[in-house]
Amino acid sequence: MEVTTFTLITGASSGVGREVARSLSRSRRLILHGRDPARLGETRDLCERPNEHLLWSLELCPVEAIDASLVALIHDQRLAIDGFVHCAGTLKVEPLRLLERATAQEIMDVNFMSALEILRLLVRRKTNGKHLRGVVFISSTASEFGARGFGAYCASKGALDAFMRAAAVELAPQVRVNSVLPGATRTAMTETMLSDAALRQRMEADYPLGLGEPGDIAAAVEFLLSDGARWITGQQLVVDGGRTVNITA
Ligand SMILES: NC(=O)c1ccc[n+]([C@@H]2O[C@H](COP(=O)([O-])OP(=O)(O)OC[C@H]3O[C@@H](n4cnc5c(N)ncnc54)[C@H](OP(=O)(O)O)[C@@H]3O)[C@@H](O)[C@H]2O)c1
Repeated sequence: MEVTTFTLITGASSGVGREVARSLSRSRRLILHGRDPARLGETRDLCERPNEHLLWSLELCPVEAIDASLVALIHDQRLAIDGFVHCAGTLKVEPLRLLERATAQEIMDVNFMSALEILRLLVRRKTNGKHLRGVVFISSTASEFGARGFGAYCASKGALDAFMRAAAVELAPQVRVNSVLPGATRTAMTETMLSDAALRQRMEADYPLGLGEPGDIAAAVEFLLSDGARWITGQQLVVDGGRTVNITA
């Protein structure tokens, strides 16, 4: 019997996740995750064939609630999930001497631990059979570089990429696991930063191809999930308009 498969996108209510949803909806049925059902509904309306996509609303911090909620969703609707894109993320810029442990924990939970938790569940036979094929984590160039006030964020993305590599080895050949590492992309996350005209101009000067748009990241995700990437796993794909190779920045 042929099963209908779905791709789960966390953080689909906004920015990169919304654009990933729009682009993948051309070829896949989606489970759109976020916290706000109304904003998730807006994402669904932007997708091809809106009626085919499901909404999953859940706060990802703390991560303990994910297990029961995701397992219930899969079992209640008899879902088979073959793709997972982790776009949910949070950025709080705090100098280390002011950083609260709870803030660091929230950043680790949303950016890293929830990805581990969801992947752990999706490869469990009793939860999702052997359906999973492709996984993409939205990491960040902050995984590999530092910035003032970015300690917990950099650590969360570094952990995500280290986990990505280990999972790629462990889950091959059935499942491919890769990361996309965006540079500064115009979304709600960067809105405050980019609304400072002087800062925006300084950043634009450092990006040989200019700042990114969510569609630039979505295109990389679509490629990594496609058959064209069938021999690519365990990799970090930097999508940053050349920022990290610009030694004059
Ligand atoms: N924008 C950039 O320049 C940039 C650069 C590098 C990497 N990234 C990464 O790209 C990914 C997407 O970011 P974005 O720029 O598209 O930001 P965004 O527009 O702020 O979207 C963030 C998404 O994550 C969800 N989310 C945040 N906290 C959550 C929580 N506690 N529980 C559940 N969901 C939560 C949000 O859901 P709600 O709508 O419910 O808040 C939203 O869907 C993130 O992983 C980010 O780290 C972004």
